Amino acid sequence: MTIPITKPVFGPEESLAVQATLENGWIVQGPRVKAFEDRFSAFTGSPFCTATSSCTTALHIAVAMLGLKRGDEVIVPAFTWIATPNVVEYMGAKPIFCDIDLKTFNIDAEQIERRISRRTVGILPVHLFGLCADMDPILRLAKKHRLWVVEDAACAFGARYHGRHAGRLGDIGCFSFHPRKAITTGEGGMITAELKKWDSLARSLRDHGAARSDLARHQGQSAFLLTSYDHLGFNYRMTDIQASLGCAQMDRASWILERRKAIAGVYDQTLAGRDWLQTPAVPTGYEHGYQSYVCLFRPETPTRKNLARLHARRNRLMLELEEKGISTRQGTHAPVLLGYYAKKYKLRPGQFPNAETADRLTMTLPLFPQMTSEEQDRVCDNLTL
Ligand SMILES: Cc1ncc(COP(=O)(O)O)c(C=O)c1O
Repeated sequence: MTIPITKPVFGPEESLAVQATLENGWIVQGPRVKAFEDRFSAFTGSPFCTATSSCTTALHIAVAMLGLKRGDEVIVPAFTWIATPNVVEYMGAKPIFCDIDLKTFNIDAEQIERRISRRTVGILPVHLFGLCADMDPILRLAKKHRLWVVEDAACAFGARYHGRHAGRLGDIGCFSFHPRKAITTGEGGMITAELKKWDSLARSLRDHGAARSDLARHQGQSAFLLTSYDHLGFNYRMTDIQASLGCAQMDRASWILERRKAIAGVYDQTLAGRDWLQTPAVPTGYEHGYQSYVCLFRPETPTRKNLARLHARRNRLMLELEEKGISTRQGTHAPVLLGYYAKKYKLRPGQFPNAETADRLTMTLPLFPQMTSEEQDRVCDNLTL
């Protein structure tokens, strides 16, 4: 049996929750979406939570709300899922890539300031793989240069920075509920905000710019009249079917996160002696959500010269593991190396050395709450050079 990279946790509770929504008959954004938002808010402490169809659409709404426009620049990490810079492109603005710290795989806060220009309007740090970016220096820079901060918290459910949950650190946070994440709604996202003004606008923008939701209209008087539309919005709504799944997932969220942390702890201990494999760092003051357990394959110190060779060696190891029924994945990609960005901005290999190293040498190990110790032993025993 192949050990998958991840596996969502579904039980009878999820099936019953979805079934109840189907039987109830209200399946578009409605009471279950509201219930999911309330549970997410209670768990994270975020006062305002607005569910969306994905994290990508959550991020799109976030930058639209902040008024991002053509000619503006936004600082993004050079190693992240392509959705992060894409939402900047959607608005006609320009993503300014910044290299990462190879220990944490997150944006290197020390390199941000030199990338700020008079066109810069915001910073979009990513809490990659469930570890928060180093937010204190980022927020200090944002304040100094009057920039907004949107947290790409796609992977950061359960992640905390000095005790505060991800999504509560910048102006707006955006989460993902794709099945690779700790809790899932199939596809889905959440916008978190500390200010009510962002919540009201996010609710309107996810629904074509409507002043009032369908549910409020149906439950109120004169349901036959459409509401007014005061903004250029989108259809980025989550369905009640997805949200009922999300509510059931929230009921087991603490257990899911505890299991993820416990399994990560076993990996940390077992792999500690393998100095060719850098395991995930958890700096003091951080709580890792372990959306993924991402290691760096480094039998030698990576350099520009040996990167291709090390990359080939890592791929050989991943292939051998695949042949033994053990799934691995590269952590994520470096958009700076991908066709669209490399071509449009004339980016050349070598400009973002750490992002490129991470793109070529990261290796995600299987991690899911139901993973048995036998499965984990099998992964560790086969992780040999
Ligand atoms: C860092 C990051 N940002 C954004 C996204 C996009 O999330 P979604 O698939 O929910 O649109 C992902 C998805 O994996 C991600 O890893």
